[in-house]
Amino acid sequence: MYQAVIFDLDGVICHTDSYHYKAWKFIADKIGATFNETINGKLRGVGRLDSLDIILKESGICHLSPNEKAFLAEAKNDYYLHLLDYMAPQDLDESVLRTLRDLKNIGIKIAIGSSSKNAKRILEKLEIINMFDAISDGTNISHAKPNPEVFTKAAEMLGVLPSCSLVVEDAISGVEAASRGGFDSAGLGDAKSHPNVTFQLSNFEDLIGIVR
Ligand code: BG6
Ligand code: MG
Repeated sequence: MYQAVIFDLDGVICHTDSYHYKAWKFIADKIGATFNETINGKLRGVGRLDSLDIILKESGICHLSPNEKAFLAEAKNDYYLHLLDYMAPQDLDESVLRTLRDLKNIGIKIAIGSSSKNAKRILEKLEIINMFDAISDGTNISHAKPNPEVFTKAAEMLGVLPSCSLVVEDAISGVEAASRGGFDSAGLGDAKSHPNVTFQLSNFEDLIGIVR
């Protein structure tokens, strides 16, 4: 049914979404901004500076200069990178590794479609970077999700049409991007509630049944 599966990274392949949460919480506490799971959900799939703007808007903080915002976004990334230092292959769920292997074994191409500029570093830490046929991430796009660019680029790298590819996402913005780009999608967590999501995933392994 599908020739390729394009995976979001944070919150789909691995649990780095919780590292993003910790890093933003650290920054929010420093500047007296409110931060919780609901606000964090709005940051899924959204780039660094846009994420900061969402946090500031939620607390009505509007006096920061572009330089101050850049400083805070950089500080968040430094904290996040520090958390990544401790990542190792054991942090990858068995079910994820097994599913990636099974997809490859049945001839499905697999790619990463992530807004993150740290995607390759994470894949190296997990020792799965060589499994992917293409990696499209924050370093090769001009527009973050919900713009479909990151997925369109991944499909181009794979040489597969969007209509023959399935996107796997945990973010509302990611399902929106998939939908705008003409991709079907499988949603986990928050992403399941998007009206355009094609499949609602309860378990990662259910992907095998969907693509066959
Ligand atoms: C996404 C995460 O994968 O990457 C977002 O879901 C994050 O929470 C985004 O903000 C971009 O990351 P960065 O810091 O590399 O711009
Ligand atoms: Mg995600």
